[in-house]
Amino acid sequence: MKSARITLDRDFVTGPVPPRLFGSFVEHMGRCVYTGIYEPGHPQADDSGFRRDVLDLTNELGVSIVRYPGGNFVSGYDWEDGVGPVEDRPARLDGAWHTVETNAFGLHEFMAWSREAGVEVMEAINLGTRGVEAARALVEYANHPGGTALSDLRRSHGAEEPFGIKVWCLGNELDGPWQIGHKTADEYGRLLAETAKAMKLVDPNIELVAVGSSNTGMPTFGAWEHTVLGHAYDEVDYISLHAYYQEFDGDAASFLASGVEMDRFIDSVIATADAVRAQRKSGKTINLSFDEWNVWSQRDWDTTEEAQNIEKGWTTHPRIIEQTYNVSDAVVVGTLLNSLLRHGDRVLIANQAQLVNVIAPIRSEPGGPAWRQSIFWPFARMAQLAKGQILRPAIVSDQMHTARYGDVDVVDVSSTWDDSTDRLVLFLANRSLDEETRVSVRLGGLAATRVTQAEVLTVPDAGDSHSSNTQEAVPVGLAPLTTVEVEGSLVSCTLPALAWAVVELEVTPR
Ligand code: AHR
Repeated sequence: MKSARITLDRDFVTGPVPPRLFGSFVEHMGRCVYTGIYEPGHPQADDSGFRRDVLDLTNELGVSIVRYPGGNFVSGYDWEDGVGPVEDRPARLDGAWHTVETNAFGLHEFMAWSREAGVEVMEAINLGTRGVEAARALVEYANHPGGTALSDLRRSHGAEEPFGIKVWCLGNELDGPWQIGHKTADEYGRLLAETAKAMKLVDPNIELVAVGSSNTGMPTFGAWEHTVLGHAYDEVDYISLHAYYQEFDGDAASFLASGVEMDRFIDSVIATADAVRAQRKSGKTINLSFDEWNVWSQRDWDTTEEAQNIEKGWTTHPRIIEQTYNVSDAVVVGTLLNSLLRHGDRVLIANQAQLVNVIAPIRSEPGGPAWRQSIFWPFARMAQLAKGQILRPAIVSDQMHTARYGDVDVVDVSSTWDDSTDRLVLFLANRSLDEETRVSVRLGGLAATRVTQAEVLTVPDAGDSHSSNTQEAVPVGLAPLTTVEVEGSLVSCTLPALAWAVVELEVTPR
């Protein structure tokens, strides 16, 4: 058996849990919108065509903010196509996903859906093929109360009250050669600064996210952030990060250590942003928006039948990257969430990509059911239970060797403490593929009085890391973690091999 020792102290606080850390992403891509959140005529659809079963699961997932409408899609999108009478909206070719976009669903529909879902909207604008004028027009259309051509146009389309969209992404992955309107850092930085300025002149209350690197493997990673922020430091509020993790060549150990890579990515972007701050002698801090993250087995995607179908013809909402997730994927997602939460003083926004069908925790079939994938559970429990302050854990853990990251802790942890409810929560992962791990936690300044909740992600056939949920069978779910013991300031439990678990305790100050 492996072991790990964790110390948590009520005075070792990172900061409050950022509510926008539990964000998601709805892109006009594959079946995320059409037959995902929106399917008129489905037995579960409401009068607006929104699938109630998907709305209920979104609610259960605990999503706080949703990025929309892309992704790569947004870099060729004209927002005007998605407003006004549906019968007048044009069908367009979407070059990003080789799809026909009908525009039956647009901004007003998304605002109505987000109200139903109880989520905040994070709107992305097109800085691939468009620029300052389209961006400031959209802010005026969406956020200005009335009395101008664009705000009155919105009202004439049925939205009397302004949408009040607070968070805006200025483009998507413009460092990537695959992006429509790909730019150099200098080209993007200048456009960003001018667009941000013009948008804030329309609505000074908005918060703006600059495009960061598409992943750490980009040749421009680091230099891109430095140059872009050099141009627009005073105009923007956040810099974005995107990362998708996967298992390469059967190397499960490295895959399970993906959180280490996420930690390094976040630390590097913080360092770069703060270096620009130092150079500018600025009193302002740029925070991080990790607005696309997940597990995505991307490597072989080009050769899949789905990819071939996309290339064959222009269809509406084809099946694209409808990945089925297993237990290992869920453990990795748990560690990625831990990384985000541990950095919650600087990562103030994070969006799992995407919400439904496209690399998503929720799956739905046209005319059929909706169900939870394995990765649903760590997200849902953390969104529900991580409240109050983030505690900074000190951990001394047995190590596990990985080819990519060297020796890493076998146990991964994050923790929160809410003094208004006297609850302390531990989010734990055991990365070992074959050994149980004994975890002991020492609390400083707090004593645990009882265990209020303890659950572990499980499959009926223990150790089957390939188990996954389908519309026919849902073997992956949560079961009670029965090994938790509490004795004053000492808490211990045994985690099964390859496990994600959550332990919630009632605590009192001492
Ligand atoms: O989430 C899927 C795609 O991944 C997004 O459209 C793009 O931004 C990223 O490369």
